[in-house]
Amino acid sequence: MGGRPKRRVGRRPVTRLLGGNPEGQDPRESKSIFMDQAKQKQQQLDDLAADIVASNVCPALAATATNLVMGDGDPDADIVFVGEAPGKNEDEQGKPFVGAAGKFLNEMLEDIGLARKDVYITNTVKYRPPNNRDPLPEEKKAFLPYLKQQLAIIQPKLIVTLGKHGTETFLPGLKISQIHGQPKRLRGLVVLPLFHPAAALYNGGMRQTLMDDFRKIPRILELIAQKGSVK
Ligand code: URA
Repeated sequence: MGGRPKRRVGRRPVTRLLGGNPEGQDPRESKSIFMDQAKQKQQQLDDLAADIVASNVCPALAATATNLVMGDGDPDADIVFVGEAPGKNEDEQGKPFVGAAGKFLNEMLEDIGLARKDVYITNTVKYRPPNNRDPLPEEKKAFLPYLKQQLAIIQPKLIVTLGKHGTETFLPGLKISQIHGQPKRLRGLVVLPLFHPAAALYNGGMRQTLMDDFRKIPRILELIAQKGSVK
């Protein structure tokens, strides 16, 4: 039975990537404000995870899952990555992207000077589908209100969707093969659709494309900081 998440997202020092130190403020003071904010947000995310369990969302998936995989990283992050659904390793550890695809994601983050603790990582569906099958439309639909609440708590500036399922959730009707690497504006947010690291891992061409697209993230963040959006 999928119970409460075994692991909580750690209470890590917070590094806001955009506007982290308001002018004229003692850096120690601003850091502590952001840490309080991160703590509050983490509490809200923990409450939301408990709500998913209490509301018995996707009971069939919950019955075969080991853990609810809510998310990992900075609850006050400017960037949220949204993948598909937990796999075997994620289900066992209660954390998203900890297997081979996660290792590749970590490497790409490092390549642009970021670590997992600087971003927040989650999935469209928060229980592992049996045998790693694709999440069903009704499963994505059932988890959507919770994903929306998660984002409303975190309030990121940039959502990076990883693969078809994450992308369709935010940009319905658009094909990842046609729009990957192109930032899109969505209700005050920017969404950057990328190929899924698992799909790109063993496909040389797609791997390079994903790495190239990933390297656009710092410039997109700069544009958001300067203009509030990408255009
Ligand atoms: N693939 C995903 O989409 N999410 C994970 O958490 C792991 C692999």
